[in-house]
Amino acid sequence: MSVTLLGIESSCDDTSAAVLRNEYLLSNVISGQKVHRSYGGVVPELASRAHQQHIIPVVDQAFGQAGVTRDQIDAVAFTQGPGLLGSLMVGTSFAKAFALAQNTPLIGVNHLQAHILAHFIKDPADREHDAPEFPFLCLLVSGGHTQLTVVRNYLEMEIIGETIDDAAGEAFDKCGKIMDLPYPAGPIIDKNARLGNPHAFEFTRPQIPELHYSFSGLKTAFLYFLRDQVKADQDFIQKNFQDLCASLQHTIIDILMDKLIRASQQTGIRDIAIAGGVSANSGLKQAVRTAAQQYNWKVHIPKFTYTMDNAAMIAMAGYYKYLNGEFAGMDAVPQARFKY
Ligand code: KG4
Ligand code: ZN
Repeated sequence: MSVTLLGIESSCDDTSAAVLRNEYLLSNVISGQKVHRSYGGVVPELASRAHQQHIIPVVDQAFGQAGVTRDQIDAVAFTQGPGLLGSLMVGTSFAKAFALAQNTPLIGVNHLQAHILAHFIKDPADREHDAPEFPFLCLLVSGGHTQLTVVRNYLEMEIIGETIDDAAGEAFDKCGKIMDLPYPAGPIIDKNARLGNPHAFEFTRPQIPELHYSFSGLKTAFLYFLRDQVKADQDFIQKNFQDLCASLQHTIIDILMDKLIRASQQTGIRDIAIAGGVSANSGLKQAVRTAAQQYNWKVHIPKFTYTMDNAAMIAMAGYYKYLNGEFAGMDAVPQARFKY
């Protein structure tokens, strides 16, 4: 059976459309929004307006690149949540209108499950694709979420740990903002951390029970530390920028790895995956590879394009829901807090 799906992603500040045939990706078009850079974070109202401007050209391009017409689409999958309500609304409305006009089934997808399922996307050009085997553990680290999940099957997942306050990506972005960096600061900190000393400055690790995380204390500690240092020397940040980036990144990675290692020991699962925007971080990828040697893990690190928000992963999740017969009705509504 051949199934061709259109995927739509609009949960935050990236508008994306993808065409997938079974597990094979035919196209994946992502349009980012530069408008948020100077605000230090995503401005919801500006994001939804930009989605409205981008959605039709992005879908058009996805069809063009895939060499597929809209009549060949068997189902349309869209991000139903979690995310920014106004942003989700644009993708949801587009998907519903498409389904109605083309008389195709509609599939509502959980954005977080989709980040994890990105590991199963097959790229026709990539012969070395090595998908994780069930059950596997996934550390999902993005701008809005930090979760440890046991993945038993494509749509059977259990969250065994999560952040009680900020997400790991938020820690990067908020600490970056304190250093006057534009949004998103994560990639800039990553780049500069490579040139700095990770042990130049020490920040305390949170003491959080079980497999949960917390990052808000680190952000506050970073803020107070810099406030005191800048009082004594106005140029402290500029003079120590690379060491600050390296030390901050090292602390965030240490916190993430500590619980990931514990989760693997507690569950006995040694197939380990990372997913989400922060999984693009070079230090985190290296830490996971180092732990793999020490603990005999088999690790799965997504391709860079699939770490950020993209519609290929939404179409991938939609494919498994299609096979399961899990369709949404025309009464489906976006959900800012969408549990799985
Ligand atoms: O998954 P994603 O694209 O969007 C959400 O669903 O949140 O993740 C975006 C987050 C931002 O916080 C961004 O700073 C972070 O991922 N990020 C990084 C890197 N690339 C993106 N953080 C650290 N190092 C990176 N290389
Ligand atoms: Zn995301």
